[in-house]
Amino acid sequence: MNKNLLNKNSIVTGGALGIGKATCLKLAELGSNIIVSDINEEEGQKVVSLVKEKGVKAIFVKCDVSKEEEIISLIESVKDFGRLDVMINNAGIGGKPCFLHKLSNEDWHKLILVDLTSVFWCQKYATKQMLSDKSSGSIVNISSIAGLGGSPSLGSYSVAKAGVVELTLTGALEVAKFGIRINVVCPGWTETAILDNAGKKGRPAMIEQVPMKRLGKVEEVANLISFLASSESSFITGSIHRVDGGIRT
Ligand SMILES: NC(=O)c1ccc[n+]([C@@H]2O[C@H](COP(=O)([O-])OP(=O)(O)OC[C@H]3O[C@@H](n4cnc5c(N)ncnc54)[C@H](O)[C@@H]3O)[C@@H](O)[C@H]2O)c1
Repeated sequence: MNKNLLNKNSIVTGGALGIGKATCLKLAELGSNIIVSDINEEEGQKVVSLVKEKGVKAIFVKCDVSKEEEIISLIESVKDFGRLDVMINNAGIGGKPCFLHKLSNEDWHKLILVDLTSVFWCQKYATKQMLSDKSSGSIVNISSIAGLGGSPSLGSYSVAKAGVVELTLTGALEVAKFGIRINVVCPGWTETAILDNAGKKGRPAMIEQVPMKRLGKVEEVANLISFLASSESSFITGSIHRVDGGIRT
């Protein structure tokens, strides 16, 4: 196994389940110590145990990414390990399917806070930490193919994820000369709990949209995220990466 991230320190938000959990395990296989962060402490602690089995250090830090002060504490917690090398901004929610003209202000604000403003904060404080550590860090933001084109009934989610793409492109240009890279991953339909309320027709309708005629696996998304986190991708920044079985939005 290539230990491309040996002795590096990584934070993964939303690391307790789904894509975040798979990413924690893959980064650990590559040699990175992991700060598993989530609102779900019970599942997060299980991921910590699985990560430690791979021979690296791991801790759980509870953080609700909709709260700026909790993100600041999360980033500070990396000092237990050393400098911050990798930040994976993955935590997110799907939101209730609803046309934009019927969407309540409350639902709009909640989705934008959890799926977009949180990534602004995570990217902001991770960048500051990497600059002060003088680390050639890598930040990977998790958007969605829904952020790359119109997505009827997923309006607020789609807008939030489009914002995550632009945060990436602009942020990457601002810090490229310091050796900090920022990239964005846009998964297509991937088998996790987030799909449970993504539409009345459910998974068969999603599969029908995918040219490869199946859902993605969390490991397939984690492989791409880990590649972008590692020095294998050392000349890639400000770049949009799809992992979607061929869907074109
Ligand atoms: N599964 C898909 O089809 C798909 C497609 C495109 C993009 N994504 C994106 O991938 C990311 C991960 O989603 P997933 O599919 O693994 O979903 P998931 O529901 O399996 O996991 C999401 C994790 O985020 C955590 N979380 C939710 N709200 C949080 C908050 N406020 N603070 C901290 N943690 C919070 C949850 O507890 C959970 O552990 C999300 O950003 C999602 O939008 C998923």
